[in-house]
Amino acid sequence: MLTFIIILSAYLIGSIPSGLIIGKTFYKIDIREHGSKNLGGTNTFRTLGVKAGLTVTIMDILKGTLATSLPFLLSADININEMLIGVIAVIGHMFPVFANFRGGKAVATSAGVILAYEPLFFLIAVIIFFISLYISKYVSLSSMIASLLAFIYSLVFHAGDWALITVIGVFMIFIFYRHRANIKRIIDKTEPKVKWL
Ligand code: G3P
Repeated sequence: MLTFIIILSAYLIGSIPSGLIIGKTFYKIDIREHGSKNLGGTNTFRTLGVKAGLTVTIMDILKGTLATSLPFLLSADININEMLIGVIAVIGHMFPVFANFRGGKAVATSAGVILAYEPLFFLIAVIIFFISLYISKYVSLSSMIASLLAFIYSLVFHAGDWALITVIGVFMIFIFYRHRANIKRIIDKTEPKVKWL
């Protein structure tokens, strides 16, 4: 029963539509009708500016961190890997029950899961992301590269930790799948680049 409650809570936490809450509450805007139409931090930056974008990104990261930490916070002795609970939160983020199942692209919430599991790993992924962003100017491409290199990193430096490797692999698949439209735009050279780098 406790396992079920934790899994359900992780899905509901992941489902919290940060971009929709910030956009509608403070700007009377549904960011899914603007820019890339994605319910994520990047599109919030693009549509509503730095303050809103940063707030949504942090909220989305914390959803993954909080969900993954639930067994620890509740001192719950359950026989399911905490990283799997994180995967449920990421599914909630992509398909939120509170926003007609039209959610984000899995990047920030996956990062939040990794943050809960191993902060150093999170830091490495963030550094890879920013190096890639500095070079390419594409947030979407940098998100995919960071997820791919995080997977390779887990294979090399966490060999044997199959739960972690599998979850990072699943995140990578989620992230690439959710960026299909971005991949097409990058190939067509119509994907917007960041201007502030
Ligand atoms: O985290 C999502 C980002 O990688 C791409 O967002 O709005 O440019 O599709 P967007």
